[in-house]
Amino acid sequence: MSLIEDLQWRHAVKAYDPSKKVSQEDLNTILEAARLAPTSSGLQPFRVIVVENQELKEKMVMGALNPEVMRDSSHVLVFAAWDSYSDEKIDKVYDHHTDVRDLPRGRFSSYTDKIKEIYGAQTPEQHFAHTARQTYIALGLAMAQAAELKIDSTPAEGFSNEIVDEVLGLKELGLKSVSLLYLGYRDEEKDWLSAMKKVRVPMEEFTIKK
Ligand SMILES: Cc1cc2nc3c(=O)[nH]c(=O)nc-3n(C[C@H](O)[C@H](O)[C@H](O)COP(=O)(O)O)c2cc1C
Repeated sequence: MSLIEDLQWRHAVKAYDPSKKVSQEDLNTILEAARLAPTSSGLQPFRVIVVENQELKEKMVMGALNPEVMRDSSHVLVFAAWDSYSDEKIDKVYDHHTDVRDLPRGRFSSYTDKIKEIYGAQTPEQHFAHTARQTYIALGLAMAQAAELKIDSTPAEGFSNEIVDEVLGLKELGLKSVSLLYLGYRDEEKDWLSAMKKVRVPMEEFTIKK
């Protein structure tokens, strides 16, 4: 199937079959798509926490908009962004880049000096607004990859960030939750959205020609 057909096939599933689990191999492929997402300056300022443990899910459903969707999903991916940028974090990423590319450390220092100056003049709130935005590209790629594998998913912002951060100990990792991606296999009978047509604004309205 083409990417377009995969995107037409997928929808934000509203009920999962709790007896069906996503295989480790498929999960790894979905995570690889997220890992390959492009990010601003290549900093990858977020991590994906993979939650399969039912007890953890039960704790996270508190405050969720669709608690039963989270509960019955096979896995919950938590997209969590850096709470702030720092010179140390930027150096760590670029040292990794130069090491992997067999280049001398500091090869990109004129560029990293520039971004350190930009982020150095910003607040942690401004940093998080930027790091959080980066996660959505990875979320989209993970969803598309899941669809290609015929694995259902539901992106979700309807949850309590405070509870999820607390349950997963994200603060200690310098991370804050941004969005979730529930993965699994739809329950055909209970997933009321399954039978409905996909609705989008017409292309003539969606694109603006100048
Ligand atoms: C960032 C984001 C957050 C979303 N949050 C929720 C959510 O909390 N609960 C839910 O049921 N659907 C959620 N959705 C799903 C959207 O409602 C859905 O993607 C949209 O209506 C388009 O429908 P489709 O994905 O089925 O094609 C979210 C989607 C996105 C992209």
